[in-house]
Amino acid sequence: MPYPPEKRTDSAHLYLNISLKLKKLLRHHTEPEQKLPSLRQISEEFNISLSTAQSAYQQLIDEGLVQVRPRSGYFLTPDKRQQSLQPQMPAATPGAERVKVSELVIRMLSLARQKPVINLGTAVPEPELMPLEELAKVQRQISQRTHWAYGGYSPTGGEPALQKALADYLHEKEILCQPEQLLITNGCTEALRIALIECTRPGDIVAIESPTYFTILQQLESLGLKALEIPTSPESGMDLELLSTMMSAIRVNACVVNPVGHNPLGFIMSDQKKRQLIALCHSHGTRLIEDVIYMDMAYDSQKVLPLKALDQHHVVSQCGSFSKSLSPALRVGWLIPAGTPAPATSSKFLTNVSVSTPCQLSVARMLEKGLYQKSVRKNTRLHAGRVLQTREWILQRFPEGTRVSLPQAGFMLWVELPEPWKAMPIHQKALEKGVLFLPGDVFSPTSDLYSRYLRINCCACKPEEVLEGIKRISRCF
Ligand SMILES: Cc1ncc(COP(=O)(O)O)c(C=O)c1O
Repeated sequence: MPYPPEKRTDSAHLYLNISLKLKKLLRHHTEPEQKLPSLRQISEEFNISLSTAQSAYQQLIDEGLVQVRPRSGYFLTPDKRQQSLQPQMPAATPGAERVKVSELVIRMLSLARQKPVINLGTAVPEPELMPLEELAKVQRQISQRTHWAYGGYSPTGGEPALQKALADYLHEKEILCQPEQLLITNGCTEALRIALIECTRPGDIVAIESPTYFTILQQLESLGLKALEIPTSPESGMDLELLSTMMSAIRVNACVVNPVGHNPLGFIMSDQKKRQLIALCHSHGTRLIEDVIYMDMAYDSQKVLPLKALDQHHVVSQCGSFSKSLSPALRVGWLIPAGTPAPATSSKFLTNVSVSTPCQLSVARMLEKGLYQKSVRKNTRLHAGRVLQTREWILQRFPEGTRVSLPQAGFMLWVELPEPWKAMPIHQKALEKGVLFLPGDVFSPTSDLYSRYLRINCCACKPEEVLEGIKRISRCF
């Protein structure tokens, strides 16, 4: 039966809605050679124009689900088998809730410090996958030639040399900001906290991806904010249709996303979807906070744009850092506030005045000399290979019915165990065998939502050690 004419006039919302409906129809198309409905059929079925139908298909092409064959039409992508092994995500009941995860997260993270374990839990690549020798050389030069760096405070906004080098680097990502618009922070964690403080008051509602990086949950908890969990696909990201419905029903003050190399799912949001999210937040007066810590780790060498590069409305605050790609110990990150940097800068001054000067100068040199850029290019290729290899090891050894994400960036896998397995008891047994992974429970404020899921870092140690870890976990079932 044809759908009634769409009431929405906003074309971005319209083709997004249609692409979501199309996605549901695609579930019945399992044969790769089966042709999908033509543009004309879609236009008649949904009572929309041909160009809207085309945009809806384009969305699915961007998400890697559909391909267009010249003069033949639209088809499912051949790697549908791989896609079909991706985790199926449960949906949290929509509603904004206070968060209480810190105790569990702190307990889990403290386990990482109890050696000896094969640590597949912490989200840091092994030292060989970071340019630490080059960094040590640069730091030696700084300590020998730049004594002044140890004798005073940096300006709160940041060392001008780093602000300039970072602004130049971000220009390559099509972010046209001036150096003084950048606030240099103690890692991405501080940037996220300042960004949230800037646009919320206790009791406010923040939309988050489900699952999400647990420190975002801890931040919401400590700032007295409520989390509105939005189901998030391992292939394409947040369910914008549901977000839009919720934003029309309740006031959402901020929305936090990790759009490029999501932790823990590993997807990259399509540019079309990024634009829709920006438009949605703009139309509801909601601050959009993006965490781009994995931005440099996309497997495809094609340019990946962060939300900030597409933000014509000044609704996006960008938080990033060098913790995963250069060194977590330097604690150097940044915030590009959506508006003027002054309030964020005074907020930072009150917590820790400024970031360590020698650390800032080290990052500036690594960027200026191109050493950082060279290292991320090389290491990202290594991540991709190791992630795919680990995925195969898991699919071969874990119980039948296990599903594993197919990341587009980063070095982590999100694993769904089949019924009746739960991650927590496996986690306990694995620890006894000397292996640590993170159970899904820490990635959501809703208890039990991800009790059958877990996250594995595929690059935390040498491949032989990762394999040994996977073998030991598989003996826990
Ligand atoms: C998505 C995400 N954001 C932020 C952080 C923390 O970054 P930093 O160490 O720079 O504070 C992490 C670390 O795991 C992360 O995965």
